[in-house]
Amino acid sequence: MRKKIVAGNWKMNNDLAHTESLISDLKKQKNTSVAEVMIAPTFTNLWMAFESLRQSDIEVIAQNMHFAESGAYTGEISAKMLKSIGVTTVILGHSERRAYFNETNELLAKKVDAALDNDMSVIYCFGEELSDRKSGKEEDVVKSQISEALFHLPKEAFKSIVLAYEPVWAIGTGETASPEQAQDMHAFIRKTLAEKYGEDVADSVSILYGGSVKPDNAKEIFSKPDVDGGLIGGASLKADDFFAIVNAF
Ligand code: 13P
Repeated sequence: MRKKIVAGNWKMNNDLAHTESLISDLKKQKNTSVAEVMIAPTFTNLWMAFESLRQSDIEVIAQNMHFAESGAYTGEISAKMLKSIGVTTVILGHSERRAYFNETNELLAKKVDAALDNDMSVIYCFGEELSDRKSGKEEDVVKSQISEALFHLPKEAFKSIVLAYEPVWAIGTGETASPEQAQDMHAFIRKTLAEKYGEDVADSVSILYGGSVKPDNAKEIFSKPDVDGGLIGGASLKADDFFAIVNAF
C-alpha cells in the first residue's frame, strides 16, 4: 500500500509567535486520518517546531536545502544541519524555488543526491505552467522535470522519494486542477515511472497533488486512485482548515 501523506508547506509565513500559536492549535486538532501529516515551517522555526511536535504524530520537514555538506554558501542550509536537529524530510523543486531562485532540474538532481546521501526523504515538486498546458505540452514538461532530476537514481532510491505534482497555474490562485486533470497527470507520472523503473516502483511511489487544495475540494481530489495526498499551501496556515483536509482521507 502506498503511503498517504498530507503536508503543509508554510512557505515564508509565520514568525516565531505565529508558529507557536499555530502549532498549539494543531495539537488541539483531532486526527482521524489514515494519512501521515507533515508541516514545513520556515528555517528559523524548524527547531522549535520539531521540539514542540516531538511527541505528536505530525512530522516537521524542511522547505529547501543546499546540495553541499558545508562551506562558503552564505545564507544556505545543508542536509547535515537539518539532520542535526532531527529533520529527515525535505521539499525540493518547489515551483517558487524554480521561478524566483532559478532552480533547474540539473541543480535539483544534485540536491536530491545530497538528501539521499544523508538518509533523508525527499518530496520532489514539479508541474507545468499555464502556457505549457495551453499549448498541450504539460506531459512533456512534467516528464522532463522528473527524468532530468531523478532518472539517474537507482530503483531503491524511490523508497525515499515522494512526488508532488503542483501545476503552477493552480498554486495560490484559487484555481484547482479538476480531480480528473489531477488523476490524468498522476496516472501519466506513474506510467513514466513504470517505463523507467518497472511497475513495482511505479506502484509504490506516493504522488501528492498541490495547488489550491481546500477543505471543500480535498475529498474529491483525494478520492482519485493515483492521488496519494496533498501538498497544501494557504490552507495549511489555519489549523482547522488544514485538519479538515487531513481528515478528508
Ligand atoms: P496553495 O495551496 O496555496 O495553492 O499552495 C500550494 C503549494 O504551493 C504547496 O507547496
